[in-house]
Amino acid sequence: MYCSDLSGIVKNVIYAVETDSTNNMAKNAAAQNAESGTLFVADRQTLGRGRRGRVWQSEDSEGLWMSLLIRPNIVPEYASMLTLVAAMAVADTIDEVCNVKQHNDEQYNAKHQFVSSYIKWPNDIVINGKKVCGILTEMSAKPGKVEYVVIGIGINVNTKVFEDSIKETATSLYMEYNTVFDKACIVSEFSKHFKHYYEEFLKTCDMSMLMKGYNERLVNVNKLVNVEQEGQKKTGKALGIDKNGALMVEFNGQNVEYITAGEVSVRGIYGYV
Ligand code: BTN
Repeated sequence: MYCSDLSGIVKNVIYAVETDSTNNMAKNAAAQNAESGTLFVADRQTLGRGRRGRVWQSEDSEGLWMSLLIRPNIVPEYASMLTLVAAMAVADTIDEVCNVKQHNDEQYNAKHQFVSSYIKWPNDIVINGKKVCGILTEMSAKPGKVEYVVIGIGINVNTKVFEDSIKETATSLYMEYNTVFDKACIVSEFSKHFKHYYEEFLKTCDMSMLMKGYNERLVNVNKLVNVEQEGQKKTGKALGIDKNGALMVEFNGQNVEYITAGEVSVRGIYGYV
């Protein structure tokens, strides 16, 4: 695999040995007019953050901690779907780098046979039921117009040990494949896959062209999930995403509700997936 090809979405890479959070690096640079397609990568983050106010453990250099700055010409309401777009790109990247997917078109179309990484809605990447990657998207917008979007991606690449608090639900590429992976290679593949999906997304500004592929990757599809929002928990069957990226969940075998991302948690009824 050719790993130094930056013909995808990434135009510049800004690297730091240590930073508080690559999302902060990207947001600060965006405010200083950094260009769309700039990727911020750090070996270590001292204040890595996740969704829903959580800490993202990233004080070691085994993982890939990166944030992509883009400036899509879209209205703010559409920006949350970019998280789903990124999840698809990461899943493809992992399968490609880990050699799970074959490279000719016929096999690509039958890719469910070669998939190893799945998506837990909206944006966790899962291998063998454990989380290998999380995505945190942040944006700055004016009424009716996005100024920039920062897509922060944390991939547990060569991690050998996790803290007790997450070791039951987290995994790394190293743990799954018993191989040390090259992080530059992952960046390069991600850049290519993200560009492809991003361009598809921009044609319609929704997930209508990507929905099928996303749902094929969805780990929760046709499974019972607990949906927890504002302290209330309900159990239903996940059906897949709709064209707006909402998760369709059937409750009581009949009512279908459209769950949008944000401050909502969707987990399997027996554990993480
Ligand atoms: C989650 O699953 O809760 C999202 C985790 C996102 C982590 C990444 S690591 C790079 C970027 N910088 C951060 O502080 N967070 C994101």
